Amino acid sequence: MIKIIPMKEEHIPGIHEIEKSCFTIPWSKEAFEKELRENPLAYYIVAELENTVLGYAGMWVIADEGHITNIAVHPDFQHQGVGTLLMKHLIDEARSKNFFGLTLEVRESNVKAQNLYKKFGFINEGLRKGYYQDTGENAIIMWKYFNN
Ligand SMILES: CC(C)(COP(=O)(O)OP(=O)(O)OC[C@H]1O[C@@H](n2cnc3c(N)ncnc32)[C@H](O)[C@@H]1OP(=O)(O)O)[C@@H](O)C(=O)NCCC(=O)NCCS
Repeated sequence: MIKIIPMKEEHIPGIHEIEKSCFTIPWSKEAFEKELRENPLAYYIVAELENTVLGYAGMWVIADEGHITNIAVHPDFQHQGVGTLLMKHLIDEARSKNFFGLTLEVRESNVKAQNLYKKFGFINEGLRKGYYQDTGENAIIMWKYFNN
């Protein structure tokens, strides 16, 4: 059974492999270490099956907002519900802490991720023009609001 558990340093090698296979500008292992060791705003989780990391997600908790920093699933395990499990967990956490909302940025071309976010009630709220350094692509800013 897939478990959603808090991210620990021992997960970072597996996370970094996924990061490299999913993103053109991957976070370094050190970036994840720094998040876990030094960032009091960080909230990170992994989806694990028999000690293998299938995916991960995280956010910065800023007052009553959750800023989702990353969500990714190993390419071999995509479109099998893992992203849904991770997003459900972040949303449950946000609801339990009475967040105002959750927000994130996504590449205009990343339809897969946008579909996942829309499924959970995220809506387009703005555009950051030329946000991504590698391609100059725009970022769509999405929000999911909770009616507290
Ligand atoms: C986006 C991502 C996290 C989704 O995770 P996942 O485990 O594949 O998602 P799920 O299997 O739970 O699917 C959830 C929804 O995502 C969307 N989705 C997933 N794969 C898709 C695909 N190949 N094409 C279109 N939509 C897709 C669908 O809306 C799907 O709902 P459905 O099954 O009812 O159609 C995953 O594709 C991924 O890791 N992509 C690379 C990293 C990335 O782009 N992260 C987001 C950065 S902003």
